Amino acid sequence: MNQLNVLQRPPRRFDADKWRADFPILSQQVNDRPLVYLDNAATSQKPQVVIDAESGYYSKTNSNIHRGVHRLSELATNQYEAARGKVRRFINAASDREIIFVRGTTEAINLVAHSYGARNVKAGDEIVISTMEHHSNIVPWQLLCERTGAVLRVVPINDDGEFLFDDYRKLVNERTRFVAVVHVSNALGSINPVKKIIELAHRFGARVLVDGAQAVPHMVVDVQDLDCDFYAFSSHKIYGPTGIGVLYGKAALLNAMPPYQGGGDMIRQVTFEKSTYNDLPYKFEAGTPNIAGVITLGAALDYVSAIGLDAIAVHEHELLEYATATAANVPGMRLIGTARDKASILSFVLDGVHPHDTGTILDHQGVAIRTGHHCAMPLMARFKVPATARASFALYNTREDVEALFAGIAKVRQMFGK
Ligand SMILES: Cc1ncc(COP(=O)(O)O)c(C=O)c1O
Repeated sequence: MNQLNVLQRPPRRFDADKWRADFPILSQQVNDRPLVYLDNAATSQKPQVVIDAESGYYSKTNSNIHRGVHRLSELATNQYEAARGKVRRFINAASDREIIFVRGTTEAINLVAHSYGARNVKAGDEIVISTMEHHSNIVPWQLLCERTGAVLRVVPINDDGEFLFDDYRKLVNERTRFVAVVHVSNALGSINPVKKIIELAHRFGARVLVDGAQAVPHMVVDVQDLDCDFYAFSSHKIYGPTGIGVLYGKAALLNAMPPYQGGGDMIRQVTFEKSTYNDLPYKFEAGTPNIAGVITLGAALDYVSAIGLDAIAVHEHELLEYATATAANVPGMRLIGTARDKASILSFVLDGVHPHDTGTILDHQGVAIRTGHHCAMPLMARFKVPATARASFALYNTREDVEALFAGIAKVRQMFGK
């Protein structure tokens, strides 16, 4: 096709309705209304191909992996390891050995805090996190500090919910051993400048973990380009099953770390005197893993890749802009999180209405949102609110969903006489 034709071709429309039809759960009624699912940051819904992958595994392949000589074990092992390759390609890791399967983002972070922390963090060292971290990226580091005598330092944010890079620059120094920072805030939607954050930490010899739970479903992530040392995410937020997640780590670091858990598959040789450990990634995958979960995560990544994360990001951004513009015209509605760089999340409070009431009334309209502290209590304290109402968008959401949300909000205001 020549240049002119390319220019004349109309932009391909993102057909959310078409993708929506892939998700059986979305066609049901809730409280006698069509379900409008806007709680995607908590967990996303699953397309039929993902549901089929899980049931296909159990009806055709179910078997334990790695140790079996029989056909089914070989098939299950191949599918499990093929999924590892899919994850590697999805985040552009250098090697399959750098992909560790864990239960989720929470376990990935705990693994690093324990295993890397045990060897590398001592009294007086500093660990840097930010004000907008999820509890999963606060508590493991607090526990590490309690065990070692290291000190937790917290980067502040501004009133828009943006990471204050100049303050970070002042906080990070030779004592900084570790930086753990969220890529996209689950409570605000802010996208953090993780590449710059990593670059500065490395100048001081500190290692960096990125909590990518809310980033991987909404944007292309390239761990080599970011140069992060560790990257964590959960399958269930990217259209895959619960109970499975990924820790990416640079092979050299993972090799030097002690095992996190002991058991089958993570060993090379065991005697009562001493055990030696398996190679990566198996050193960190003790016991029978979530085989079905891993294979099904692979199917979810295939699904997302076929649609294209860039296209998904553009679509979700349009929904966010539409919702943000609409919110500006609702009296008494205040957005919590107005960062310039923002993804897929509309967190808000309504004057004189508790967010739980907002959530309950919306539920009566069939609109599912999340209310509460979003596992980010220090962040709520920063904004001086006990909780927010949060609508979060996924690839299958439409402008009609946004309109249903605002129709529900109008009803809330009416019921509270606002
Ligand atoms: C930013 C962030 N980090 C960590 C987590 C924890 O993920 P999981 O519960 O899947 O381990 C979440 C989940 O909401 C999250 O949004």
